Amino acid sequence: MEAATQHSQMMTVEADGAIDIACRILKEGRLVAVPTETVYGLAADATNSAAVAAIFEAKKRPRFNPLILHVDTIERAKTLAAFGEIENRLARTFWPGPLTLVASVREDAGIAPIVTGGLSTVAVRCPRGVVRELVRRIDRPLAAPSANLSGRVSPTRAEQVAQSLGDRVALILDDGACETGLESTIVRVEAERLMLLRPGAVSRADLETVTGLPVVRVAGNTSIQAPGQMTSHYAPCGTVRLEARAVEPGEHLIAFGEPLPEGADHAGAIFQLSRTRDLREAAAKLFEALAAFDDPHIARIAVAPIPSDGLGEAINDRLRRAAAPRV
Ligand code: TXA
Ligand code: MG
Repeated sequence: MEAATQHSQMMTVEADGAIDIACRILKEGRLVAVPTETVYGLAADATNSAAVAAIFEAKKRPRFNPLILHVDTIERAKTLAAFGEIENRLARTFWPGPLTLVASVREDAGIAPIVTGGLSTVAVRCPRGVVRELVRRIDRPLAAPSANLSGRVSPTRAEQVAQSLGDRVALILDDGACETGLESTIVRVEAERLMLLRPGAVSRADLETVTGLPVVRVAGNTSIQAPGQMTSHYAPCGTVRLEARAVEPGEHLIAFGEPLPEGADHAGAIFQLSRTRDLREAAAKLFEALAAFDDPHIARIAVAPIPSDGLGEAINDRLRRAAAPRV
């Protein structure tokens, strides 16, 4: 960790001048790792192609998958994407918050083409926290994927960003642990239906209530194959076994509540997601658990069953990807 952090600066968001420094770096076309309520993001000025290209390089993303644009207001979102009545309602209800809206990109959006990866649509979200302040101050949207190396778990703490990307980012803004701990819910309105491209903290039930539209889960977008929608993602070094009602010899355990599964006393180590079976707490800790067991010495990870209602849909989505056969 020492070696990784010596190249980049870590500052808490409240530190004197932290926001000024972050704005200056962003305006220079360099990268800043930023906290959001979901996970830490790797941010660049979305109007600067070279800056956005640096994101892909830093993450070692194999391809130019489309990125999410981060904005401070609904008004700014509308300068980038064509919102209809449903998008407006969703934005008014859930922003700032963990919801990303995919809509047609506006011709006069002024963003670097590499952001959308050549698609006619763009993903936009208004997060909670310091990102809005940065966008307001530099007066440009920020493109930001999760601040992890491609294919690895998304960081929910600044220290994890320093570990994996420390020498590739000019500044890391530290705001402690992320509130949600899972990436945003991504939706697209399509012919009186809401296509759920990625489950997240805004649940299917919330979406249905607010829009009155049926929510259809799209397993892997047909037009793109981006991380977070790829089958194998978030993969720790070892194999991951889900729905484990008992721990087998040689396994580490990710637990959900008590009593612990049979054989837990033989587990290499136990990471408890939530003693009280609270899905919110489990979501916030999930990537931390996968990161804690992402170690070449840990060959096998068992995960206790987790219900799939509410936030559980997003939790189980991420777990299935972590457990999927590696490509
Ligand atoms: O919570 C989050 O959304 C975090 C924080 C940093 O904001 N960001 C994040 O970004 O998770 P990333 O790059 O790791 O995931 C972006 C997702 C990809 O899975 C991609 O499929 C989807 O956004 N996406 C981007 N543009 C899209 C588009 N035009 N159509 C469909 N999906 C799109
Ligand atoms: Mg990601």
